Amino acid sequence: MESAAIDDILSVRDNHLYVEDLSAAAIARRFGTPVYVVSESGLRNRVRRFVRAFATRWPEGEVHVLPSLKANFALALRHLLTQEGVGCDTFGMPELQVALAARVRPELISVNGSSKDRALIERAVQSGARITLDSEREIGIVRQVARDLRVRARVRFRLRPDYADLDFPSDFGHDVIIRDAAQAYKPGIPTELLLRVGEDAIRAPELDVRGVMVHLGRHTSDLEVWRRMAAGVGALIGQLSQSWSGWEPTEIDLGGGFPSHRDPTGEGVRYERHEATGAPAPEIEAYAEALTGALRESLRRQGVSPSGKVLEVEPGRSLYADVGIHLATVRNIKTQQRPVARTWVETDTSEMFLLDTLIEHNRWDTLVVERAREAPTVTADIVGISCGFDVIVPDARLPEVGEGDHIAFLATGAYQDATAANFNAMPRPGTVLVRGADAWVIRQPESVEDVFRRDVVPEHLAAGIPESTR
Ligand SMILES: Cc1ncc(COP(=O)(O)O)c(C=O)c1O
Repeated sequence: MESAAIDDILSVRDNHLYVEDLSAAAIARRFGTPVYVVSESGLRNRVRRFVRAFATRWPEGEVHVLPSLKANFALALRHLLTQEGVGCDTFGMPELQVALAARVRPELISVNGSSKDRALIERAVQSGARITLDSEREIGIVRQVARDLRVRARVRFRLRPDYADLDFPSDFGHDVIIRDAAQAYKPGIPTELLLRVGEDAIRAPELDVRGVMVHLGRHTSDLEVWRRMAAGVGALIGQLSQSWSGWEPTEIDLGGGFPSHRDPTGEGVRYERHEATGAPAPEIEAYAEALTGALRESLRRQGVSPSGKVLEVEPGRSLYADVGIHLATVRNIKTQQRPVARTWVETDTSEMFLLDTLIEHNRWDTLVVERAREAPTVTADIVGISCGFDVIVPDARLPEVGEGDHIAFLATGAYQDATAANFNAMPRPGTVLVRGADAWVIRQPESVEDVFRRDVVPEHLAAGIPESTR
């Protein structure tokens, strides 16, 4: 069999796309389409790479990788990551509950989010998870809860550094500068406030203030930005340390936001502007090098020793995206010559199940599963089943493709299942996990009944058409 690897997960064997040792066509036939597919070995390899990349570059102290649950909250995947021994970034009560249910060690959980309510704070404090504090109000609630429960709550401050030298454009487009975008983003305790209230919190007997956390967000793959981000965090730590009688954090959490290697984000905007697309983002190791080097240097410049500091990162997309694909079946090819020539490849999926087509202007790399080695001969819009334009990939370059063929959308393992919507009352797709030549459903596809499960029709409306209006 002729075989060529695309990466550590995907390969082309006899012109067919494979996920690990299973043909994508067989997965589509067995489980139906549309369907999300995730590679178990891919996720394991990637998380191990993350741990190694940071641990080898941060010998100063422990490294904790805290995968961001929001990127893909399939329970089975979280169990896999728990087996791998890594922590978790959670947002809100449901994610905290899932992380605890999947037996993540509480001391490796970061409970993020702005405006947390008391119930969430109580659950976090009870469980021993670390709360990433977002406001003075939260400091007050945590202190109260810790006093009531007679425990010491583990907390960190979420920072809002002024990244004065981040005058770089954001990939989110629309001519946004990253420095401004970081200030428009709501999380974190404003620095002028933190300088006033932080020292009090550090001295509070009911709080174990372990360190600081930041999250810049997905703006760019430019490593210089990530270096400056880490340097900016080091600078703010220096300022806090000086203001608070030499206090130093035990933990420094640099959040997530780095792109996946395939990096489809924003490519749609670049494509529309006729700019070059398709450049992969740097590898995890280069990202780790950029963050650790800049943080170390910046801390030293501030007179804060990096030695003994725990370094944490919260990868979402950079961990999950490239280990997943989305499979769809071609239902029909439609062409017209006049008044404008157009070809549509009509599939059984939708931008509603690949929502970053719209939110983050992703342009997906695609492969025709049964013709994965063939050169493109056709330019067509790959479209979905919703009533909107539903152009999933405009002007896709495809080999000869026909009804019943399958299309694989690459780099869909992060945020696509997590944000899928029921527009047009469409049941959302399920997720299949592949390991070697085995496969399991890890999230059931919805049925139409599931879509309407929350609906309640009051009795007076359920009775049919009243006599008087017949
Ligand atoms: C606090 C926090 N950490 C980590 C992440 C993961 O980000 P990404 O998927 O861009 O790596 C997010 C995403 O919004 C976040 O809000």
